[in-house]
Amino acid sequence: MTDDTKSSNAMWGGRFAAGPDAIMEAINASISFDKRLYAQDIRGSRAHAAMLAATGILSNKDAEAIGEGLLTVLSEIEAGDFPFSTALEDIHMNVEARLKEIIGEPAGRLHTARSRNDQVATDFRLWVRDQADAAIEALTALMKVLVAQAEKGAGWVMPGFTHLQTAQPVTFGHHMMAYVEMFARDRSRFEDARKRMNECPLGAAALAGTGFAIDRHMTAAALGFDRPAANSLDAVSDRDFALEFLSASAICAVHLSRMAEELVIWSSAQFRFVSMSDKWSTGSSIMPQKRNPDAAELIRAKIGRVLGAAVALFTVMKGLPLAYSKDMQEDKEQVFDAADTLMLALAAMTGMIADLTVNTEKLEAAAANGFSTATDLADWLVREAGLPFRDAHHVTGTLVALAEKKGCDLPDLSLAEMHEVHPALNQSVYAVLGVHNSVASRQSYGGTAPDQVRAQVARWKGLLG
Ligand code: ARG
Repeated sequence: MTDDTKSSNAMWGGRFAAGPDAIMEAINASISFDKRLYAQDIRGSRAHAAMLAATGILSNKDAEAIGEGLLTVLSEIEAGDFPFSTALEDIHMNVEARLKEIIGEPAGRLHTARSRNDQVATDFRLWVRDQADAAIEALTALMKVLVAQAEKGAGWVMPGFTHLQTAQPVTFGHHMMAYVEMFARDRSRFEDARKRMNECPLGAAALAGTGFAIDRHMTAAALGFDRPAANSLDAVSDRDFALEFLSASAICAVHLSRMAEELVIWSSAQFRFVSMSDKWSTGSSIMPQKRNPDAAELIRAKIGRVLGAAVALFTVMKGLPLAYSKDMQEDKEQVFDAADTLMLALAAMTGMIADLTVNTEKLEAAAANGFSTATDLADWLVREAGLPFRDAHHVTGTLVALAEKKGCDLPDLSLAEMHEVHPALNQSVYAVLGVHNSVASRQSYGGTAPDQVRAQVARWKGLLG
């Protein structure tokens, strides 16, 4: 296995006589995945070179050659004809080695006053920051389609559930707006994380800072950071920005999964509350009648990858002494996969919701089933007959049992039957037994009354623009 004839690494091999074992190379190299950081790596290096020139550490001539050469590397990578090498371990050394081939000697000066430790921390922060921005944008798009559905369905009654048992009538718009609130919190978590991560590690060097008179404020500003990170050990050794991104992603993923689960249930033959458009369904190769909600099922399933990524990176980080350890190279694949999965799930959910057809008749019929206005009846007894709520609850329970025995719904009971259970019941009780009256009465702030839902829709339309 050992290949003693292989030369040692050109970037750090000064004290090595032989190259690494093939297995060592396989476990050590990250280029197969961290090549995804090429744009951030080149951007960071260009900012670093410009700063080295501005501070007189590098000649303008060398810095220009480096800046130009890096742009050539960028275009080669973008054109897909860059020879990535596993022997060169990672994106940082691949880019630098190619730069050397292109511009020669000045390439060796680029790594002055920095280390791969601050370099990778910077590249990865830039990448995660872009992903936070993308998540914020995708969540905004999803919220907009939810608000549009809520506006249409502000007055559509449907059963509200607890324990997946019919509880009280609610409006479809209210149900959609519940998710708007959840996704809004998800969005604010990405916004918070973005603010906190926006400090620049570049210039922390290996761990202790550098003896060169660099200008860290200059590189921080050039890369769009708010400020340089204030402690060099912290700058190279924490990945809490990635953990925060994964945590925000995990919570958002759980929200997406719950919504996906509802779409699966609602589109089933037993519910038929909604139907998914052709664009978001698949058929069965054997059962011609089937229309399967695969996208919703896959959102529900893929969310496991996001949660797994969070657990994996927390586990990587939990036992690491300061400062950098190679363990941290394991941060990237987890975050890449979680980000890809989340973005795909957000896009699919947005498409499904935008195209969703709602079966309002089914919703309304289901809303009236299952004694969903029993609470309204109990409330009527409290309000109109002065009963304590507990007694009203008991009387209503007796009426529900009677209706159940007769195989009918509460409004189908005659006034005589009602009277027999409680003499205070009169004709006006029937008004509260209708599902529309029920939802219209829920006027408390944040309640399901169509007026309240419309007020929230208007608020969110204003906020979302
Ligand atoms: N590929 C490495 C990573 O992702 C870059 C940093 C390497 N630093 C070092 N001291 N070996 O973490």
